[in-house]
Amino acid sequence: MSRRGHRAWCLAGLLLALCGPPTHSFEVKVEGTSSEVGYGGTVLLNCSSNCPEEGASGGLETSLSKEWVAQGPGWLSIRLHNITEPVSDVFCFFSCFRERKVVTFRVLAYGAGSSNGSQEWGNLA
Ligand SMILES: *[C@@H]1O[C@H](CO)[C@@H](O)[C@H](O)[C@H]1NC(C)=O
Ligand SMILES: *[C@@H]1O[C@H](CO)[C@@H](O)[C@H](O)[C@H]1NC(C)=O
Ligand SMILES: *[C@@H]1O[C@H](CO)[C@@H](O)[C@H](O)[C@H]1NC(C)=O
Repeated sequence: MSRRGHRAWCLAGLLLALCGPPTHSFEVKVEGTSSEVGYGGTVLLNCSSNCPEEGASGGLETSLSKEWVAQGPGWLSIRLHNITEPVSDVFCFFSCFRERKVVTFRVLAYGAGSSNGSQEWGNLA
């Protein structure tokens, strides 16, 4: 390929990167009633997106037991119950114009079996 040809090719590539394919910016967010619960607790989550595409699909991925609560255009709500893991990440995702975005909601469960940690630290002193 000639030098000029190469430049033209680069320019075409640059324009393609800048101008197309069309990128639609959208946000995905997840809101929860709480990000800290007691052992075995419950959290209500609302995963939503402002994607302008009709019928954009979304969902939540978690290893915790979840229960469907409600769904509307651009959002879905679920309840996580019996949270016994000290730290769990819940992934809320939406696909918009074939672009997928994921946000993470971290849930902490405290008070699991009340470990005798402080006592052990005391013995060390
Ligand atoms: C979830 O969030 C969306 C967007 O913020 C809102 O329109 C919807 O009413 C919420 N649903 C619930 C059940 O709170
Ligand atoms: C809660 O989770 C624990 C640990 O995964 C399990 O042993 C227990 O049976 C669960 N309880 C309920 C009510 O689902
Ligand atoms: C905490 O200490 C008490 C009393 O020594 C003991 O009975 C209990 O099993 C301990 N709990 C844990 C989680 O280690």
